[in-house]
Amino acid sequence: MSKNRYVDLMPASIGKYKILGKLGKGGMGDIYKAIQDKPVNGVALNRVVAIKVLPPQLARDSEFAQRFEIEAQAVSTLEHQNIVSIYEYGEDDGYRFIAMQYIDGMDLGNYIAETKVIAVSDIIDFSKQICRGLRYAHTHNVVHRDIKPQNILLDKNNVIHITDFGIAKTVADVTVTGSTVGTPEYMSPEQAQGKKIDAQSDIYSLGIVMYEMLTRKPPFVANNSMAVAYKQVHEPPMPPSVKRKDTPKQLELIILKAIKKEKRDRYGSVEELLTHLDTVDPNERVDRQTQLFHPSLKQESAAAADERRITDRRNGDRRGGMLDGANQSVFSGEYWKTMLQINWPTWLAIAALGGALAIHVFKH
Ligand SMILES: Nc1ncnc2c1ncn2[C@@H]1O[C@H](COP(=O)(O)OP(=O)(O)OP(=O)(O)O)[C@@H](O)[C@H]1O
Ligand SMILES: [Mg+2]
Repeated sequence: MSKNRYVDLMPASIGKYKILGKLGKGGMGDIYKAIQDKPVNGVALNRVVAIKVLPPQLARDSEFAQRFEIEAQAVSTLEHQNIVSIYEYGEDDGYRFIAMQYIDGMDLGNYIAETKVIAVSDIIDFSKQICRGLRYAHTHNVVHRDIKPQNILLDKNNVIHITDFGIAKTVADVTVTGSTVGTPEYMSPEQAQGKKIDAQSDIYSLGIVMYEMLTRKPPFVANNSMAVAYKQVHEPPMPPSVKRKDTPKQLELIILKAIKKEKRDRYGSVEELLTHLDTVDPNERVDRQTQLFHPSLKQESAAAADERRITDRRNGDRRGGMLDGANQSVFSGEYWKTMLQINWPTWLAIAALGGALAIHVFKH
């Protein structure tokens, strides 16, 4: 690294790379755009790269450095169109850095912020590309651990490139046991609880990203990390179709399955998720049958009606989805059968009261 010390100053060069500008700042240091213009084996590459410089406190930690190198080596063997390639893990003047493929575009976080409504077809396309990158990594035994929109880059041709694979793992390994590394809004319940995480935790985080692409906000937000983590573990998500009316039914089911609290209820693999994404009919909307149970909803405010529908859906979910599906009209036997199944204690109470009243009238 050139004479500049690691502070907020931008170095003129790092290793064999000439710094062109700053691309961003993450939790783990700064990221720069650079050019590799010095000849390697007599060949001038003139290759534009992105360089992540690790913070000095981590760079100085020899255990971290060792583990990071091992992890970086594993990640650098990943070669996939939807994964950012790692070119080099290096050290210069006591500073550790990773040189990687530069993606000319923007990260998904900025894309979501800039795009008012992302077309459903694009959401499906992006999700499938993320799945392909993850499927490849998982089959090579690499779990990402920090899937979030800022780690998903979108180039000018709408090709997805996932970055920062496995980096969170090294940081987690050298931090205090039980502590968590990751971004609370995208963290799986098991990760939020400091438990062991695996490929299914990536599936959860991907489900959250898909939810955000649809509705512009992740399902669990709060004003502090602890509160978000609590919601990840305990709070049921509001179905995305409540926030975005053109959510395809199948896509909603896929997202809700990906973000199930219990790992066993989620997709077993990215492959399975990908197969389901292939079956999404973008024009099939979520069936809002629950309105049939509340004809008076029409008089309620839209917000109150939305809230009521959410509650109905959650209840439906808890009751094994009895309210979902079939065309239930108040005139159908199926409707009353369902009502009887759900509300039998109420019916029993009404019958008892009626009986008591009849006895009372009869006696007097
Ligand atoms: N390979 C790359 N090519 C182009 N831009 C990149 C590349 N990698 C990262 N960026 C940009 O730099 C920003 C910061 O990235 P960085 O990974 O440092 O931060 P982060 O993802 O927000 O946080 P974290 O440290 O938790 O990963 C990204 O959001 C992205 O916009
Ligand atoms: Mg990142």
